[in-house]
Amino acid sequence: MSTTKTTRKCRNLMEEFILDNSQLLEINRRFLNELNRGLCKRTHDQADVKCFVTYVQDLPTGEEIGRYMALDLGGTNFRVLLVTLKAHHEADIKSKTYAISQEIMTGPGVQLFDHIAECLATFMKEQDLLEDHLHLGFTFSFPCKQVGLTKGYLIRWTKGFNCPGVENEDVVELLKDAIKRRGDISISVVAILNDTTGTLMSCAHRNKNCHIGVIIGTGCNACYLERVENVELYDGQPGKPYVIVNAEMGAFGESGSLDFIRTDEDKSIDRASMNPGKQIYEKMISGMYMGEIVRLVLLKAIDKKLLFPNCGKQQLQRLAMSDSFETRFVSEIEEDKEGDWTNCKRILTDLGLSKQPTNDECAEVRYICECVSRRAAHLVACSQATMINKINEGHSTVGVDGTVYRLHPKFNEYMEEKMKELVNPNISFDLMLSEDGSGRGAALVAATVTG
Ligand code: GLC
Repeated sequence: MSTTKTTRKCRNLMEEFILDNSQLLEINRRFLNELNRGLCKRTHDQADVKCFVTYVQDLPTGEEIGRYMALDLGGTNFRVLLVTLKAHHEADIKSKTYAISQEIMTGPGVQLFDHIAECLATFMKEQDLLEDHLHLGFTFSFPCKQVGLTKGYLIRWTKGFNCPGVENEDVVELLKDAIKRRGDISISVVAILNDTTGTLMSCAHRNKNCHIGVIIGTGCNACYLERVENVELYDGQPGKPYVIVNAEMGAFGESGSLDFIRTDEDKSIDRASMNPGKQIYEKMISGMYMGEIVRLVLLKAIDKKLLFPNCGKQQLQRLAMSDSFETRFVSEIEEDKEGDWTNCKRILTDLGLSKQPTNDECAEVRYICECVSRRAAHLVACSQATMINKINEGHSTVGVDGTVYRLHPKFNEYMEEKMKELVNPNISFDLMLSEDGSGRGAALVAATVTG
């Protein structure tokens, strides 16, 4: 592949994005340490990786039945879903996507929850469900401290959301209040869950070896099945051996564990973000930031005259704007067949960088994209290998979802090849693409609670 060519002009520039195994093993060690600190009562408050207890303790059998409503907030889209579980590992899903404007993402919490309740009512009306009383699972993909299955206090907003009045509040209560204010729908909110939990549940619905759920989308996070005896903060009913733990691993690195590999681009993205100093690992990986990392590297390469040496101020206008290099461009550029460059040429011309980019310029840009996306995949591989080794079963299936994982043509390959090197040789694993974790998973949690 083109990353191995030594003639690249941008080779030196990208060196620090290529992590060798000794660095990755060091990250593994630090990640495990943070994970254990999150699980332990004494160190939990200071830990980067919080390991929140989800109170989901029963994996699905595949024989669940019933109709459930689900809400999915915190990914690329906001969705309302009607999920019919049909036993035999099957489910039927009807869903609708609704826009959440920038104004709502950063406006008052009440406005956000009113909007959610309004979308729910509109959907139920369209599906002719206003006469029914249904149970609802709320996939709310932000760090929450849960107190049981129906109480979740938002610890902090992530991923560009910043609605005042929600942090430290029970989001189930806020949702119920908004539903009550409307007065036109009859719903019981029976569970709140993270998207990683939904992913794990929806994969476990089909595959009983699934012990981990990971999201590589707008944000990046994972949950896994932990033995209750290792979860010191567990205060649920005794008797069940396992509980799903939401690692909130996007926050890894906040105490400096990743400083030895962070680049100038990582640091400036963090500084310019809505939450400086927070979600350091997530900012090196997820879809909300990947395109931006590439954009900053491109600017550096142009500044050093390694790329588009004749590019003037005028041509740089677009690229100089934050977020002008979208994460989907990284996927599209890596999708080009070697020597073809159709997508790459279109993107570079649309950005106004050159009227006719040469093949060599395209090869350089693609190399930059590959280094950034491969680093992201290797960083995810680190945490996943650590979790698999910690669970230490003969075989673990990792349920995966998220736009980056789904849309990037090589993310799965990059991640899997590195995991093979990092997972203990006596353990086997596989990656399983989740089918609608936030919908089916939410319904399965609702079913295991009410069933
Ligand atoms: C962010 C959120 C986390 C979520 C992840 C993926 O990291 O804090 O709760 O699971 O994004 O959506």
